[in-house]
Amino acid sequence: MTITKKDVVARILQGRPSSPRPSASAFAPANIALCKYWGKRDEELNLPVTPSLSVSLGSFGSKVTLSLQGGSDAAELNGERLAEDSFFAKRLFAFLDLFRPAPDTRFSVVAHNTIPTAAGFASSASGFATLALALNEIFGWDLDRRSLSILARLGSGSASRSVYEGFVEWQAGTSPDGMDSYAEPLDAKWKDLRLGLLAVSTDHKPVPSRAAMKRTVETSSLYTAWPAKVEKDMAALKDAIRRRDFPLLGQTAESNALTMHATMMAASPPVLYWLPASLSAMHRVWALRDAGLPLYFTMDAGPNLKLLFEEKDAHAVKKVFYDVQIVAPFA
Ligand code: PMV
Repeated sequence: MTITKKDVVARILQGRPSSPRPSASAFAPANIALCKYWGKRDEELNLPVTPSLSVSLGSFGSKVTLSLQGGSDAAELNGERLAEDSFFAKRLFAFLDLFRPAPDTRFSVVAHNTIPTAAGFASSASGFATLALALNEIFGWDLDRRSLSILARLGSGSASRSVYEGFVEWQAGTSPDGMDSYAEPLDAKWKDLRLGLLAVSTDHKPVPSRAAMKRTVETSSLYTAWPAKVEKDMAALKDAIRRRDFPLLGQTAESNALTMHATMMAASPPVLYWLPASLSAMHRVWALRDAGLPLYFTMDAGPNLKLLFEEKDAHAVKKVFYDVQIVAPFA
């Protein structure tokens, strides 16, 4: 018997009194994975094949105000009303469907991304995490973070990690209902760590990450090598974080991202998010590194790069990548 999202929500909310308020607001940070989530073992529940590890982006994320209203659902992002039939609105309303206490309950969603959307870093992770937090507030469920991480995951896998600040590990879990697949924060701060958001293109992705993941798992001969790579990289990253070994952190994150992209390039038909400008930025990173600058990058399901470096090198990075947006996750 397949377990549905509604089953999971019912299990989490079982015995929780609901005392709705007219409206509630929440914020959740975006996150960048250093060891990626790539491939689901359950498509419905967004259960991953492997664990993953991310760093949250501090004040860069999504703010949302949720209100209960009559009529129909309405959503606004960064001051603009979303068309009801847009891809984003459909995903959002389908997520809210899981939580309507009565069939005619309708929501108004007013969302603001503090991460530069125009630069192509709009994040479904912070969006669904902040919705889970706002739903918890508006209905007064008083859920713990573990349950909120599970609820956020039902919207988007990587959202499970955005209910926390700092370094976050998402356990893959083994249970078919995913009750053991949630994120937890690592007890570590790295004050000097910096991320650089480097926008290469703001155009719409040719293949959404959900479809790309599915195609990779189903058709890429390289995907069989992915779980072992993740196991090795998770251990190396935790070691790097424990010892504040920046080159180990950077090398591992970069290699993990390149391996993820290699698995999708080997899918049929291939998925290649890189643009000429992505490749040129990679070469610049490698040239700077050869010249002695400890600079690394990671990339997600898109053409943009996220640079990794330490505070002491921020000036040198900015000199070459003058339009980079620098984030201090622990500052
Ligand atoms: O959460 P989704 O379905 O948007 O998938 C995110 C996948 C990556 O961003 C490529 C990797 C990750 O772990 O965030």
